[in-house]
Amino acid sequence: MSDRFLAGRCALVTGSTSGIGLAIARSLGAAGARVAVNGLGTPEQIAAALESVRQAGAPEVRHFGADLSDAAAIEAMMADLAAWAPVDVLVNCAGVQHTAPIAEMPAATWEKLIAINLSAAFHTMRLALPGMAAQGYGRVVNIASVHGLVASVNKSPYVASKFGLIGLSKVAALEYAAAGSRASGGVTVNCVCPGWVETPLIEPQIAARASAVHGDREAGVRELLREKQPSGRMSLPEEIADLVVWLCRREAHNLSGAALPVDGGWTAQ
Ligand SMILES: NC(=O)c1ccc[n+]([C@@H]2O[C@H](COP(=O)([O-])OP(=O)(O)OC[C@H]3O[C@@H](n4cnc5c(N)ncnc54)[C@H](O)[C@@H]3O)[C@@H](O)[C@H]2O)c1
Repeated sequence: MSDRFLAGRCALVTGSTSGIGLAIARSLGAAGARVAVNGLGTPEQIAAALESVRQAGAPEVRHFGADLSDAAAIEAMMADLAAWAPVDVLVNCAGVQHTAPIAEMPAATWEKLIAINLSAAFHTMRLALPGMAAQGYGRVVNIASVHGLVASVNKSPYVASKFGLIGLSKVAALEYAAAGSRASGGVTVNCVCPGWVETPLIEPQIAARASAVHGDREAGVRELLREKQPSGRMSLPEEIADLVVWLCRREAHNLSGAALPVDGGWTAQ
């Protein structure tokens, strides 16, 4: 495997101040990429995220603070980023969740989830893909979810956004399939579809289960996994990150338009 293939290339990872995105930023940095970190947080959280990506080995790290619910802010971020470096790798990882039955889902929450989980990826992709095609190499990895492949109750905007993200990725994979060559690495667009991953995003759902078993967090986690994820194990963010780095390698030039489940068998059922 060409281990230094990513050295000096530029990667934008949205939602990389926390959780899966931060792990992906660290792994791409460890592979030698210059990393554009995007995401919300306190100045201390953002500084800690940048430092950990630097510590992982990234030759350069910068924070681009766009709020991804705002299309104009995304355009401005992509222009700032282009002035820093051409984008070789785009990982759309920012995502939010809200659980409620459809009839009780606030309309504003629907709009916000669709904007952050789906429309933001459309905007970053439409602005980054032409440059990738021109240079003959580019990778878009969209962090969807098992909820882009199957549904669960009480997650209407989340499931709709993730199904949409997989569809959007397939269209882009087709539109850019012929760009570049085996030698340059081509342009690919894929989704990674995790089941449960241990991050702050799912803490409210763990807490809800734990409260039904006298606040026992471990029992709450077991209950959550028992329902849908046959392995009985959560994934770690670093495990998702390893797959993303592999997808960015030259050898993955012909893997495009896929939605890869990392879900302990959830969607095999
Ligand atoms: N944790 C899981 O079990 C799991 C499973 C499947 C898919 N996912 C997906 O993985 C992705 C990352 O989730 P996570 O678990 O790491 O969550 P997380 O809450 O730890 O991180 C979410 C990131 O998105 C950023 N973000 C949120 N709103 C934003 C906005 N308006 N503008 C810019 N950034 C914003 C946050 O600042 C943070 O960096 C999400 O797309 C999520 O849907 C997570």
